[in-house]
Amino acid sequence: QCVRSETHQGATSGQGGIILGFSQIGAESAWRKCNTGSIQQAAEESGVQLLFANAEQKQENQIKAMRSFIAYQVDVIGFVPIVADGWDNILREAMDAGIPVLVTDRKIHTEDDRLYAGFIGTDSEQEGREAAFFLLKKFARLGNQDEADGKPVRIIEISGTEGSSVALGRAAGFREALADHPEFTIIHSQSGDFLRSKGYEIMRNLLEVYSDFEVVFSHNDGMTLGILDAMREAGIRPGKDVVIVTIDAEQAAIDALRRGEVNCVIECNPKTGPAIMSLAKRLAQGEKIPRLLHVDETVFSEYDDLSSVAPRGY
Ligand code: AHR
Repeated sequence: QCVRSETHQGATSGQGGIILGFSQIGAESAWRKCNTGSIQQAAEESGVQLLFANAEQKQENQIKAMRSFIAYQVDVIGFVPIVADGWDNILREAMDAGIPVLVTDRKIHTEDDRLYAGFIGTDSEQEGREAAFFLLKKFARLGNQDEADGKPVRIIEISGTEGSSVALGRAAGFREALADHPEFTIIHSQSGDFLRSKGYEIMRNLLEVYSDFEVVFSHNDGMTLGILDAMREAGIRPGKDVVIVTIDAEQAAIDALRRGEVNCVIECNPKTGPAIMSLAKRLAQGEKIPRLLHVDETVFSEYDDLSSVAPRGY
């Protein structure tokens, strides 16, 4: 599923069939590389000709790529919106050209939902809720357990790319699930842009400012790995001195969970290539597709038997 991870611009030739123009946001994480590999491999296997463009983290590059797909008269456009806002004009251009658009992984805000055919990807609000549910369990605040002593639980949140639906959703779901538990306080929230280097840098700086906090909630594993490096360097034992909750479920995060350096890993499923190809084919045939499809995702925590977790592939 994640075999190919090139991030070049270019075409993958299928044997005939439809042409899918796809705008990917970049290669910021192992998760993203797996997502790209899944899309490229599924295109090859299903005979879809893929015009693939890597936007290198810039919305303007995505819009340019989509405009070139329209000029090329592809059958379907697929894209991962780096941020949620700012897509209506290009979507209108695609609609005027009669090209259906599939939104994937991240969601968009639009004035008119008819501008895109459907969405397939992650449920980021639920991922945020799952992070909170784990903390409620860990600190025994669930109704069916003993109430804890009411001591504050101070949380540092390192969030994803500002304005992206996943960062907004994860933050919203997390806060929603903790709303009735005022002893959980987010003492600091900062974007690390889903990058390992920023996770490291931010945590190094925060350790100069905050000496007491119980939890780090990180919006992706890449940033978490940087956070763990910074903590170890400062003599802090992640997973023991500080509870670490992270999202994605890359192999490296599952390994850290097994070592006891991470307490909970919420899966974000990148292997959407086959579903994207099947939806693109249906759209090319003029069929309607569901407006919203969330992919299956699970949660791995220190309370689980991890011996049977299969290699993740990313
Ligand atoms: O949009 C999904 C997020 O983007 C993943 O959590 C993150 O790792 C990625 O880069």
